[in-house]
Amino acid sequence: MSQPGQMWGGRFQGGLDPVFEAFQKSLTIDHELAFADLETNLAWTQALARAGVFTEAEFERVREAIDQLAEHWAAHGVPRDDAAEDVHSLVEKELIARCGDLAKRIHTGRSRNDQVATDLRLHLRVLMADLLEGLHDVLAALVEQAKRHADAPMPGYTHLQRAQPITIGHHALAHCEALGRDRERLLDAWRRMDECPLGSGALAGTALPIDRDELAAELDFHRGPSHNSIDATAARDHLCELLFVAAMTMTHLSRLAEDYVFFASQEARLLRFDDAVSTGSSLMPQKRNPDAMELVRGKAGLVHGALAAMLATVKGLPLAYNRDLQVDKQILLPALRETSACLRVAALAVRHAHFDVARCAAEAERGYLNATDLADLLVAAGVPFRDAHGLVGAAVNRAVELGVELQDLPAAEQQRLLPQLRGDLRVQLAARAVLDRRNTVGGTAPSRVRAEVERWQQQLAEWLSGGGCDDPDCETPDCDDEAHHHG
Ligand code: ARG
Repeated sequence: MSQPGQMWGGRFQGGLDPVFEAFQKSLTIDHELAFADLETNLAWTQALARAGVFTEAEFERVREAIDQLAEHWAAHGVPRDDAAEDVHSLVEKELIARCGDLAKRIHTGRSRNDQVATDLRLHLRVLMADLLEGLHDVLAALVEQAKRHADAPMPGYTHLQRAQPITIGHHALAHCEALGRDRERLLDAWRRMDECPLGSGALAGTALPIDRDELAAELDFHRGPSHNSIDATAARDHLCELLFVAAMTMTHLSRLAEDYVFFASQEARLLRFDDAVSTGSSLMPQKRNPDAMELVRGKAGLVHGALAAMLATVKGLPLAYNRDLQVDKQILLPALRETSACLRVAALAVRHAHFDVARCAAEAERGYLNATDLADLLVAAGVPFRDAHGLVGAAVNRAVELGVELQDLPAAEQQRLLPQLRGDLRVQLAARAVLDRRNTVGGTAPSRVRAEVERWQQQLAEWLSGGGCDDPDCETPDCDDEAHHHG
């Protein structure tokens, strides 16, 4: 027999073993889908009314009950400890309490399989919008950083060895490029999320004359109804894909975090984090630790694990729905929450990171970062680059011996090692000159970086003002009409 809050039980005599009962419940996780579930219930009841299962008056009573429940939960929260098996059972039970037998008819022609698939897509739109906002937040913080320091030299690294001077702004915008691609991937994932599985039933479709195009439009799914009921209830690649976007974003945040942690180290001392994002040691009074960025770096692992877990959950599952798929939400939702939080904290940490501009500039003049440019000067004087490379290598060795920079080699040494060059190297090898030479597209020259800052500012302003879609009800970010409105 069915218990209240149980959607099945007709052929069962014995109750569930309490151990299994507790084990199979999902309310502690899927309570998050409650409002999405109310939305799908309303749309489905309306579709049923159009199909003649409810009269208009009955539909209105169900709508009222749904509104009341939504209001109640908005005020008091959705219970996580209810006896109901999952959020769908909870909603049905609560609706029965509000409109009686009418609510028992809502599940006509529907299954929890198409219901949960639809709920999750609806809910993920909200979470994806939040991720998008978080991405915009970090991007804005980095662009601010880049604007402030578009001209400011700092040492650039490869292999974590000093390589060539770059501007602080160029470094900040490098991270923008990566996160900008994550944004693009997120919107791409959004596109595949934007399809309505409701009406697919348990796996074979629904036997009722439901207008699925209308139903999809009602729920704002721009790509319309799914085209195969088996796939619609079985597919979870859209979740894997979203988790990949989150994992990639976290990887990028972890690289940003690592750069800043290194810059803030006593060894580099290129930047300092405000107290707002630093912590002390319980033992060592002198410590100032960059924990905000370290936690961001650390949490990347959680999200990577979630991607692996999701792929493993789906792998080898027979079509269509299997209860394994209940685990999807347990994997996905916390990972997206972490990603969202990390985006906010990374933005905060960037805003609270202060480059020591004077030291960055001084360090950009040290450590032979201009050796490539010295070779280029030799090339300009007619020496083939490979030979110039060798000559400069020898000059660097001598400069190291003497404890000076290349531009400070004594005149006699310069004459001996680099006879092709005349005059004072100090101007031509200054970090400023080295930077200015790199003014082709994508280069670190301050003039380029200023132009890129402007491009990013415009881009961000455009993104923040929404897309170019002319449907006033469309909430899809960056909607370009074509991708989302050809049904
Ligand atoms: N709680 C279930 C889930 O999240 C809902 C679907 C249950 N369907 C079923 N046939 N038992 O996947």
